[in-house]
Amino acid sequence: MKIAVIGSGNMGSSFVKQLRKAGHTVTVTSRNKASAQTLAKDHGATVVDASKLSDAEIIILATGAPDAIPALKAAGNLSGKVVVDITNPLTADYMGLTIGHSTSNAEEIAKAIPGIHLVKGFNTVFAQVLGAGGTLPNGEKITVFVAADDAAAKTSVTNLAQSMGFAVSDAGPLKNARYLEPLAGLNIYFGYGAGRGTGIFPTWVEAA
Ligand SMILES: NC(=O)c1ccc[n+]([C@@H]2O[C@H](COP(=O)([O-])OP(=O)(O)OC[C@H]3O[C@@H](n4cnc5c(N)ncnc54)[C@H](OP(=O)(O)O)[C@@H]3O)[C@@H](O)[C@H]2O)c1
Repeated sequence: MKIAVIGSGNMGSSFVKQLRKAGHTVTVTSRNKASAQTLAKDHGATVVDASKLSDAEIIILATGAPDAIPALKAAGNLSGKVVVDITNPLTADYMGLTIGHSTSNAEEIAKAIPGIHLVKGFNTVFAQVLGAGGTLPNGEKITVFVAADDAAAKTSVTNLAQSMGFAVSDAGPLKNARYLEPLAGLNIYFGYGAGRGTGIFPTWVEAA
């Protein structure tokens, strides 16, 4: 598939690496032109301007939460595009969320950019986990939770995550991003606050 990644930081880099490994055609758009060039060169991707984002079948939004809406607005008309929101609206010390309960960063993005098919996902995996791929050496698959209102968009992102080796858990409508963003907050607490490291990730287990 043709995938565009916005952002060339921790998550953008891990996405470009794993998407290329899975055989996708990848473009990168970033405020940080130098790191985007290095990233693209290292993994066989192409740097493009924001105006070319609409050429992709799926756009991965890998900016900080406050930069998400301006980054999408810079792309012009994205109506009908599938956009994956991986952002977490974190406080400066990473130990809290700036919004929640009655909304989520995902819902605020969907409101600000009408017409896109927004899918919340990948926000509960650390960049280090993503960068190592979706399947552990013992064969266990890491879970990616996806929440979206558009069924076809959710299916596309599910297929994309599976192509990178992840297991996908359907987390319902986009408004359930209100649960997924705090879930990432707890994961960050475990990883950094409780000192368990960035190899940690949430999953759901069903008793037989
Ligand atoms: N890091 C993780 O483990 C992790 C895990 C799950 C979810 N997340 C979420 O994923 C998002 C990205 O995290 P990160 O750690 O990758 O952040 P990061 O390292 O700061 O990377 C953000 C990237 O986005 C670029 N950017 C900012 N505004 C932009 C714009 N308007 N247009 C294009 N590019 C823009 C930044 O450029 P500059 O270099 O110029 O700032 C940078 O390359 C965050 O919302 C975070 O909450 C992170």
